[in-house]
Amino acid sequence: MTDGNGTGLSGQVSIADEVEELKRRRNAVVLAHYYVPGEVQDLADHVGDSFYLAKLACTLDADVIVLAGVAFMGESAKLLNPERTVLLPEPAADCPMAHMASVAEVAKVRREHPGVAVACYVNSTAELKAASDVCVTSSNAARIVSGLAADEVYFIPDMNLGRYVAEKVPEKHVILNQGWCPRHVGISPEEVRSLAREHPGAPVLAHPECTPEVLDEADFVGSTSQIIEQARESDARELIILTVVGVAHELERACAGQGKRFLFPGHPPICPNMASVTPEKVRDCLRDMSGAVEVDAACAPAARRALERMLELAGR
Ligand code: 13P
Ligand code: SF4
Repeated sequence: MTDGNGTGLSGQVSIADEVEELKRRRNAVVLAHYYVPGEVQDLADHVGDSFYLAKLACTLDADVIVLAGVAFMGESAKLLNPERTVLLPEPAADCPMAHMASVAEVAKVRREHPGVAVACYVNSTAELKAASDVCVTSSNAARIVSGLAADEVYFIPDMNLGRYVAEKVPEKHVILNQGWCPRHVGISPEEVRSLAREHPGAPVLAHPECTPEVLDEADFVGSTSQIIEQARESDARELIILTVVGVAHELERACAGQGKRFLFPGHPPICPNMASVTPEKVRDCLRDMSGAVEVDAACAPAARRALERMLELAGR
C-alpha cells in the first residue's frame, strides 16, 4: 500500500514505484509471459503469449526491454531487436524443452529426407532456430506448417505440439522429435477425466504441449492467450484449464465480474523457471542493467531469419 507520494505507509518506496522510476530513467519496457507470478505480470507494460511477445519486441522503440520469462523469450526479443538491450530478470530461468533437439539430428534428417522443411517451435535455443527454416508458436504452428511448400516437415523440439500439428495438417508428413514439456506431460488423462466427471458441463481448455491422450479430452486446444480468450467468451461458469497455473492471474482479470471458476488438475502445473522471476529481480536487473541477453553471432542471422519468416507467414 502506498501513500500519495508513492511511498509505502511505512515510508518505504514500493517495488512497483521503484520499477516505474527505473523504467523512466532507462527508457525501458517490461514484457511478461502469462506463466510468471501475478505480481510480476502486474509490473509489466505488456503481458502475452510467446507469439505476442515476439511480435511486440519488433515494434518497441524503448532502449531497454525487460523480458520477464525464460531464456528463449529473451533470445527471441534480442534476435528481433538487435539494437536494443534485452534484460532477463532471472538469466538462469530456462525452458528444458528448448534443448531437447540437436543440430546434428537436424542435419541427419535433412540428408535422409531431401527437401524436408524444418519447423522449430520458439521454445528452442537460438542454435536450433538457426538450423531451421521457420519458427512457429503454439498459436500459429498448424497454419504455418500447412503453408509450407515442402510435403515433409521435421518438427522440433516438442513432439506433442508436433503430433497436434500433424493431425491438423494431414496433407503433410510430419517427422517428430523426442522433446516435451515436463509440466504439460505431467497432466494425466485420468485426472482430466475425473475433474470432468466432478464438474459435468465444464469445458476443457488445453495447451497443445499436453499429450495426445489429454488433448483427446479437450473441447478447445490453443496457446495461453487463445485459452484465456476462449475462457472469456465462454458461457460456462466452470472451466477446466490444462496449462501452467500462472495463467490463472490473467484469467481472473480477463473474466472479472463473470463469476467463473477455473479448475486446474490435482497438483496445479507450475513451471519452476517461470516462477523464479520475481518483482525484486525485475527491479534489480533494471537498476544494475544485469542479465543482458547476447546471442552467439555465429547463429544469430539464421535464427533471426527463421523468426522473421514466422512473422511474415503469420501475417505479423
Ligand atoms: P504460449 O506460446 O502458449 O504462451 O506457450 C509458451 C510456453 O512455454 C508453453 O509452455
Ligand atoms: Fe518450457 Fe514447459 Fe516451462 Fe513452457 S511450461 S517454459 S514449455 S518448461
